[in-house]
Amino acid sequence: MKFFIDTANLDDIREAQELGVLDGVTTNPSLMAKEGIRGKDNILKHYLKICEIVEGDVSAEVIATDFDEIVKEGEELAELHPQIVVKVPMIREGIKAIKYFSDQGIRTNCTLVFSAGQALLAAKAGATYVSPFLGRLDDISTDGLQLIAEIRQIYDNYEFETQILAASIRHTMHVVNCAKIGADVMTGPLSSIDGLLKHPLTDSGLEKFLQDAKS
Ligand code: E4P
Repeated sequence: MKFFIDTANLDDIREAQELGVLDGVTTNPSLMAKEGIRGKDNILKHYLKICEIVEGDVSAEVIATDFDEIVKEGEELAELHPQIVVKVPMIREGIKAIKYFSDQGIRTNCTLVFSAGQALLAAKAGATYVSPFLGRLDDISTDGLQLIAEIRQIYDNYEFETQILAASIRHTMHVVNCAKIGADVMTGPLSSIDGLLKHPLTDSGLEKFLQDAKS
C-alpha cells in the first residue's frame, strides 16, 4: 500500500518524508488556499517545492471544467515536473480529458469520486488513480469503506490497472481498514500516518525496558 499525504503544508510533507514511508502527495485547491498559496505562478512554484521534498507522485488539480481548458491546464502541470499527476474532476469533460491524457501518456488522478459507477468510468477512460472520498461519504452517513470494497471488486474482475487511491481519509482506522480491503494507496493528513505508530502497551513496555536496563 502506498502512503500519500493530503496536504500542501511543506512542514507536514517534510515530516512525513523524514519518517521514510512517504510515497507521494495529493493537493487540491482548498488545501492550497489553506496554506495561503494564491495566483498561478505561486501555485506552480509551490508544486515544485513539494516535488523537491518527495520522490513520488504529486497530484496537482486543474481548475478548469471544460475539455479544452482542462487539457491546456493539465499539459502545463504535467510539463512542470515529471512527478506531477494531473488531478481531474469526475465530470463529463473531465472523463474526456482523462482519456485524452491517457492517450498522450500523461498520468491522471480522477478526483471527487463517490460511486462505483464513477470509478468504473474513470478506469475505462484510463485514469492512473481514482480517488473515492471515504471521509466525505462517512460524513453523510454513507459507508465509504463499502465503496472502496466495491471498486476493488470491479477493478479485480476486469484487471483494470487504475489504482484505487482512498482519499478523504480522516483517521488511522480509515488507513487500516483501507489496507484490509486492498486499496492501492491512501491519502490522509499527517495525523492519520502518525496514529499508526501509537499503542499504549508500546509506551508502557518501552518505559519498563528502559527502567530495567538502568537497574
Ligand atoms: C483527495 O485527493 C482530496 O484532496 C482529499 O482527500 C479530500 O479530503 P477532505 O474530505 O478531508 O477534504
